[in-house]
Amino acid sequence: MANAIHVLKTSRAVASMADEVRRALTARPRWLPCKYFYDNRGSELFEQITQLPEYYQTRTEVALLARISDDVVARAAPRELVELGSGAGRKIGMLLEASARAGRAIRLVLFDINPLFVDASARRIAAQFPGVDVHGLTGDFFNDLATLGPGGGRLAVFLAGTIGNLHPDDVPRFLSRIARQLEPDDALLVGLDLVKDTVRLEAAYNDAAGVTAEFNRNILRHVNRVLDADFDVDAWEHVAFYDHARAWIEMRLRATRNCRVRARGAGLDLRFRAGEEISTEISCKYTRPSFERMLPRTGLMLEQWYSDDKQMFALTLLRRVRMALRPV
Ligand code: SAH
Ligand code: TRP
Repeated sequence: MANAIHVLKTSRAVASMADEVRRALTARPRWLPCKYFYDNRGSELFEQITQLPEYYQTRTEVALLARISDDVVARAAPRELVELGSGAGRKIGMLLEASARAGRAIRLVLFDINPLFVDASARRIAAQFPGVDVHGLTGDFFNDLATLGPGGGRLAVFLAGTIGNLHPDDVPRFLSRIARQLEPDDALLVGLDLVKDTVRLEAAYNDAAGVTAEFNRNILRHVNRVLDADFDVDAWEHVAFYDHARAWIEMRLRATRNCRVRARGAGLDLRFRAGEEISTEISCKYTRPSFERMLPRTGLMLEQWYSDDKQMFALTLLRRVRMALRPV
């Protein structure tokens, strides 16, 4: 039976959302933390993004996982799988099947900020894999990882290029926080979107059907609902472009006219000029060298780099080494 624990109690989650949103919207340049894309509608829109013809990432990662999951299980020999940012939890089934093929009994922990998606995917997987001991945890993978408890026989997975949504300056600290929840010889599998031509990258974040634009604008609906704000969502347009020098896609929302926005739940009364932007997300594109530069002193060592034939996407298997960790 699936067993779900919600780390973030609603009152604390709303209070910290109010603080974070207040700080981000009053900063220059203005921004919003991308984890707030994922209310229930946002998580559903993300599922639609994964099906878009322009969005090559999900298809490529799923095909790659199908090819390598037996090898990953053979190398990591896990007794426990932990998926960080598990979302609808569709990919982890491939690693569960590989574990079953290897005759390994396994425990699974799904960790995500969206409690409804944690519950639904934990239930679905528990029904689909009766031999697997399934647990759900709701929390922020940046702040609440310690709730996982000590590792040992643990394989953590962080898929979908979600690591690209962290600022590169934060990645080493984030990786060492994960390493703290691992014992020596435990492993971490990370999905990375790779540097490629700008046309292809920009198309993936500017789909013809407008789903990504709706996903981007949905962050304003989420703020309106939780923080009693009055963003006129239709007054904001989606902007996504590739910054070549920084090797990241940046997503913004641009005001199409002057507007005043109040957010009573965050004590905000803001004015935006037409053309003013709010930065909502970056999605960093890596190369093998640029990712390897993140690893020193994290307690993680690159063991295996897997990629598709066209070098669109990579899965990297990292191994927890025996060493003192950098401070976090
Ligand atoms: N792993 C899934 C979903 C990827 S989308 C897949 O491969 O399709 C990114 C997921 O990370 C979303 O489900 C979102 O809810 C979750 N997420 C984003 N920021 C988070 C945070 N700070 N803490 C925990 N989960 C987060
Ligand atoms: N991490 C993936 C990426 O950066 C998925 C994702 C997160 C995404 N937010 C998104 C995709 C917004 C499209 C739009 O691509």
